[in-house]
Amino acid sequence: MMERQEYNAPGYDVFKKQVKKLTGLDLNSYKHQIHRRVHMLMDRWKITAYEEYFRTIRENDLKLREFLDYLTINVSEFFRNPPKWTELREIILPELIARRGRRQIKIWSAGCATGEEPYSLAILSLEERLSARQPVLASDIDAGALALAKKGHYLKRQLLNVPPDLLEKYFTPEEKETYRVRNEVKGQVAFQRLNLVEDVFDSGFDLILCRNVVIYFSSETKVLLYNKFLRALSPGGYLLVGSTEQIFDYKKIGFESAGAFLYRRPEG
Ligand SMILES: C[S@@+](CC[C@H](N)C(=O)[O-])C[C@H]1O[C@@H](n2cnc3c(N)ncnc32)[C@H](O)[C@@H]1O
Repeated sequence: MMERQEYNAPGYDVFKKQVKKLTGLDLNSYKHQIHRRVHMLMDRWKITAYEEYFRTIRENDLKLREFLDYLTINVSEFFRNPPKWTELREIILPELIARRGRRQIKIWSAGCATGEEPYSLAILSLEERLSARQPVLASDIDAGALALAKKGHYLKRQLLNVPPDLLEKYFTPEEKETYRVRNEVKGQVAFQRLNLVEDVFDSGFDLILCRNVVIYFSSETKVLLYNKFLRALSPGGYLLVGSTEQIFDYKKIGFESAGAFLYRRPEG
């Protein structure tokens, strides 16, 4: 029977610092569950010492990917939660276009994982003829996820929500049930490695999507993040969060409600 490592063992503090230096991921900004996941993976790999755990992820890229995948869960899909995409297309984007014009609109997929969300936004931006050079910014802390996003190859099952006409127009089928997003779609997106907790944000966004990213963030970390998003938005700009991630303190932070899971920076 393996001896379980204690979360408060001195070795765990050192491990957390090393992980932060290697990946930018600060395990202290997350809820307790993240520590459980760190240790579940340690057990799964049959590792009992933090030194060996860190060495494994530092020296083996595949293990590092598995570690980050396991902790940050970069699972995604195109047009995830379809009714929200209908709302974006039929209500939010037309309102932004009327107020800001097609050339100005800047959209950010914050925590973009392997690219499904920013490419869904890119498809909308092509359909709605947004004309900034790259209207969509896509960022993630995980360099491995970003590398996959830039490649843009997807399994058929990740594309189940893509309407057939858009699938035909913006994807090229490849062998073995995979599809590739066309260059026209890729050209709409600028990818950037960014840690939402630590890094400084750009500003002037009209729409920010941050969905299914904050699951493990502590409540203090969430409030700090939502404050940063507020300042990153243009007046009148929207923040869309995941469908279990209602912001209870939205008024205190400075947002107004714009619908379910949708918040707006007031115009005045
Ligand atoms: C489940 S995916 C969400 C993908 C997409 N937004 C969606 O809803 O389908 C969560 C992503 O958040 C990223 N993430 C977690 N913590 C982060 C942080 N501090 N800064 C930036 N990205 C982070 C993970 O790397 C992961 O790719």
